[in-house]
Amino acid sequence: MSGDRLLDPSWTFLNHGSFGSTPRPLLELQSRWREEMEAQPVLFLHRRLPGLLDEQRAVVAPFLGADAEGLAFVRNATTGVAVVLSSLELQPGDEILLTDHGYGAVARAVEHLARRSGARVVVAPVPFPIEGPDAVQEALARGLSPRTRLCILDWITSPTALVFPVHELVALCRAQGVPVLVDGAHTPGQVEVDLAGLGADFYTGNLHKWLCAPKGTAVLWGAPRWRRSLHHPIVSHGLGLGLHAELDWTGTDDPTGWLCSAEAIRLHRAAGGTALREAHQRLRSEAGALLCERLGLAAPAPESMLAAMLTLPLPGKTEADFVPVQAAIHQARVEVPVIPWGGRLWFRISAYSTYNRLEEYGRLAEVLADLQKN
Ligand SMILES: Cc1ncc(COP(=O)(O)O)c(C=O)c1O
Repeated sequence: MSGDRLLDPSWTFLNHGSFGSTPRPLLELQSRWREEMEAQPVLFLHRRLPGLLDEQRAVVAPFLGADAEGLAFVRNATTGVAVVLSSLELQPGDEILLTDHGYGAVARAVEHLARRSGARVVVAPVPFPIEGPDAVQEALARGLSPRTRLCILDWITSPTALVFPVHELVALCRAQGVPVLVDGAHTPGQVEVDLAGLGADFYTGNLHKWLCAPKGTAVLWGAPRWRRSLHHPIVSHGLGLGLHAELDWTGTDDPTGWLCSAEAIRLHRAAGGTALREAHQRLRSEAGALLCERLGLAAPAPESMLAAMLTLPLPGKTEADFVPVQAAIHQARVEVPVIPWGGRLWFRISAYSTYNRLEEYGRLAEVLADLQKN
């Protein structure tokens, strides 16, 4: 166990970004909620749950700079995106704009929708390595057209770990009347989120990543103009009764992770809040410098476009080397994602400063240096 988490100490765990480990106090709180639910399931799920979710939303919404009315719980960012996509009414020839730094599952969902509706998927290529945020703006501007019906923007990109200049990008889309869905899967707890100031149409974010809430805890927010037209792809009793009624209940499920959200935020603040996020960023910066120095790499982006994760190239490797390289890293009991992207092979580090230590990135550097020799 590592500190307050159940992490197996025999692993060098540098992938908080994919799945963070939930701390014990939150797992214990979730168990207490489960015991309460099982003591009288009907009372709990039918009668108490709506009020309990309102209490959680009253804490989560201000943390994200949002109003509770427009904020609903979903299981994960994938579901948040699915709610928005399934609420669109598209005509043949309409366009949905993505970038090539988007999350694969989101791209698949958009392709699926496009096939069914006759819409077109437009993928704006953004360079990586990247010189600065202007390059993202230029790429997006080139992808927008009078037929764009939705733009999906990653706030922190998954394969390349970049913090996109999301405020400027939202403004660019809105100026052309294009609705924007911000995929903020990695943002709650990693960067400051102020949805009122962002001006997006939709936002989804995971509480189970950098806030360490139990898995299956995420949110979707919709701007007031969209709230009546947002529908969960799983239709249940709440159809037409508003965002909370539609999304709170999609059939019998375990809502106890959602009920730990406020406590996850309290723990985040108790561990420093902004100072904690800055400590993650400092550790990532030191770890990045160490890896670049030991492996002879250059930083792929300016500091202003990085937070607690960093993607670096695996020198001399191509996408074809993916399986053996990932296997070799696992063999060394190091957990770090290897990412085939843009014809090259990359790896992405995460830095969660309360349990990751700089020496762990040194260990990764050793493993990768060995790989370079082979
Ligand atoms: C940018 C982005 N969007 C969406 C997701 C999907 O998150 P989840 O698996 O919680 O649905 C991820 C997961 O890492 C992501 O990085």
